[in-house]
Amino acid sequence: MTTLIRGGLVIGPVSAQHLDVLIDGERIVALLAPGDTSLAADLASSVEEVIDATGKYVVPGGVDAHTHMELPFGGTFASDTFETGTRAAAHGGTTTIVDFAVQRAGERVQDGLAAWHEKARGNCAIDYAFHQIIGGVDEESLKAMDELVSEGITSFKLFMAYPGVFYSDDGQILRAMQTAAGNGSMIMMHAENGTAIDVLVAQALARGETSPRYHGLTRPWETEEEATHRAIMLARITGAPLYIVHMSAKQAVETLAAARGEGWNVFGETCPQYLYLSLEEQLSAPGFEGAKWVCSTPLRARQEGHQDELWRYLRTGDLSVVSTDHCPFCFKEQKELGVGDFSKIPNGIGSVEHRMDLLYQGVVDGRISLTRWVEICCTTPARMFGLHPKKGEIVPGADADVVIYDPQARTHISVETHHMNMDHSAWEGYEIAGGVDTVLSRGRVIVQKGDYLGSAGHGQFLRRGLSSYLT
Ligand code: URP
Ligand code: ZN
Ligand code: ZN
Ligand code: ZN
Repeated sequence: MTTLIRGGLVIGPVSAQHLDVLIDGERIVALLAPGDTSLAADLASSVEEVIDATGKYVVPGGVDAHTHMELPFGGTFASDTFETGTRAAAHGGTTTIVDFAVQRAGERVQDGLAAWHEKARGNCAIDYAFHQIIGGVDEESLKAMDELVSEGITSFKLFMAYPGVFYSDDGQILRAMQTAAGNGSMIMMHAENGTAIDVLVAQALARGETSPRYHGLTRPWETEEEATHRAIMLARITGAPLYIVHMSAKQAVETLAAARGEGWNVFGETCPQYLYLSLEEQLSAPGFEGAKWVCSTPLRARQEGHQDELWRYLRTGDLSVVSTDHCPFCFKEQKELGVGDFSKIPNGIGSVEHRMDLLYQGVVDGRISLTRWVEICCTTPARMFGLHPKKGEIVPGADADVVIYDPQARTHISVETHHMNMDHSAWEGYEIAGGVDTVLSRGRVIVQKGDYLGSAGHGQFLRRGLSSYLT
């Protein structure tokens, strides 16, 4: 099957050009400028399918490097399966996810990874890869890290938060970082001072401060900045590359930026919720409503200016990637586990369907450029996690994962119309001045004008290489 996407403005991480995209089977084979007379242009004149993209943007399929399908958390499981979550992602123009396989203390890492393969295999609408959570750093799991790298799992998440669940102490972190430094993999860090937070949480609950707002107030920015700084110092000692996930505090990013300025291999990720939502407006909603926005790190105070600063750091490049940290829980029965005790609210927000749209709105609002949109949502996550040039950029040889994005469309986000398995939307009522028109995954049209044409099992597991950023 040959396909030509004709007449659109092709957006890459550095330029936007009027080009036609020629696809043969699952791959992009050529980009044709108007008037091209090459052999590829001959082929383009006899393609089986032409998609007219006149007046639209042609962008690489989104790469969401941080999702949690079916994550066990707080006595329940994230409500999207790989089937529902990847279908929702496809609707929103995301064609690759990197999800987190889980190992807890006392379990074998290989068993955790095998369980994730089992959940995903045959169920995904789009291609997928895994990071590995190491929840119990010991001799066995350190050895497993080396083994996993050869299986295409080239990044490992550690937690400075959640004592008794996923938490690692500084000695364990140091050991895991030494291992990563040795095998070329990336350490991803949940940077919050979990033992200090647990004391603040217990004290708040003892005072009768039980509503969702206190989730934010017991995880002040200092706990994120302190952990970020500590993680950077440990990474410096070991030489391991470090990627700090879900950053929300401007002070933490300032610390990261200073280390980057000194030349260290440290990288930052933020998420749409930290760019748009706040402690005052969402987390402090009346009654128990704020539970919809309980996630960690927490939403920060707008009056402290975190949101504007995160947008600024996306422009300077000190924040490299926007992922969703998609971790959906229904309000009924899941978020409600924390009625009367905010610490029992499962942590997470579902956004896998909306990342491309929400960040495109940043283009409309003049906060980032079109090329920066593509860079932070597609190209950099692919490069960061060893998926480039197969994913993340429209270039000859790449997988034909392509989104035709219509700047004339309007997207209205609502639980009534979203495809995620959630009974509410953290983004209810958000309006985007643009929208996804057509989505191709490896040459196949999987979404067209809102209709799903894909299938569970189309998505393939991606063995990742080492990060392109480790110089
Ligand atoms: O609240 C969050 N972020 N839930 C998902 C788990 C994690 O720490 O990323
Ligand atoms: Zn985390
Ligand atoms: Zn996460
Ligand atoms: Zn509307």
